[in-house]
Amino acid sequence: MRQAGRYLPEYREVRKGAGTFLDLCYTPDLAAEVTLQPIRRYGFDAAIIFSDILVIPDALGQPVSFKEGVGPVLEEIRTVEELSSLDQRKLSQHLDPVYEALRRVRSELSDETTLIGFAGAPWTIATYMVEGGTSRDFANTKRWAFSAPEEFSQLIDILVASITNHLVAQVEAGADALQIFDSWAGMLPETAFDKWCVDPISRVVSGVKEKLPDVPIIVFPRLAGYRYLKVAAIEGVSAVSLDQTVSLDWVQETLQRKVAVQGNLDPIYLLAGGDAMREEANRILETLSGGPFIFNLGHGVLPPTPLDNVAELCEIVSNWQGTSA
Ligand code: CP3
Repeated sequence: MRQAGRYLPEYREVRKGAGTFLDLCYTPDLAAEVTLQPIRRYGFDAAIIFSDILVIPDALGQPVSFKEGVGPVLEEIRTVEELSSLDQRKLSQHLDPVYEALRRVRSELSDETTLIGFAGAPWTIATYMVEGGTSRDFANTKRWAFSAPEEFSQLIDILVASITNHLVAQVEAGADALQIFDSWAGMLPETAFDKWCVDPISRVVSGVKEKLPDVPIIVFPRLAGYRYLKVAAIEGVSAVSLDQTVSLDWVQETLQRKVAVQGNLDPIYLLAGGDAMREEANRILETLSGGPFIFNLGHGVLPPTPLDNVAELCEIVSNWQGTSA
């Protein structure tokens, strides 16, 4: 989950001088610097490249901006005719600064630290492109997907190809593992989940694996509930990231027998700190550390999180000995 960002004073310092958020993403020296900041401060086992899931629409020719207090803003695409404004030919050139940042980070990280590249999943990116930003009910995207699936598929197809290329290029530039964020997977109704979450992600994963059979791929189908099983069953998926609503006993009995799991401390425990955080972190470690497991949050770190809480959590996790030994 998000490691860099507004909770770190050294990030806020770089951010102040960088121009817009996307300027920061597209300036390799600065993007590399803010990727390394949390590793220097806390020594995490993995770094995630500083970028955003919305660089894909931006690179396709649907410009993205980030408005303070609002979030991402895009000029919405809601018809097949409007899809013709998207141009995949410019993608890798536009995203070259991301690859350059990966090369720089990889050259500065020790061999023991994993570098994670990432992209949004087709469904989640499509919601931002159709809604023109964050949404409450995803009404426009869902209406299009439900009422004209052949049309909406054309957008998903463009995204499957673009995301696949972007992920492959990130590994070629130095990423050791990949993560696919389907932050709005849980908003899909039962009948649409296979079609717009599972199927597009399967196509991305198989496209990446065709070129890079050994790269580990982590998928985050946020708020998918029991449907995590469907994502864990996708051929080529090595791990799933758990949001904080998933029952860990269930995870231990089901998902963890098939794939590694990553998660799932509610970021508010990290914000709150104290006994509440300690107890919850210990509960997660106790329940999941008997199988393949990566300790993580259930979503991104929030800006007002105290730095000392992050340090204490790292200590709890790295000193964990297990109870069964
Ligand atoms: O360590 C890292 O921070 C990794 C890089 C990273 C960012 N975004 C940087 C970022 C990653 C992995 C993401 C993923 C991302 N971006 C997701 C999927 C994960 C999730 O959170 O569900 C989504 C949905 C986005 C889209 C996005 N980007 C939103 C909704 C926002 C918030 C806008 C706001 O004003 O609150 C962003 C901005 C963003 N992306 C920030 C960072 C550090 C904050 C930018 C700032 O400094 O103002």
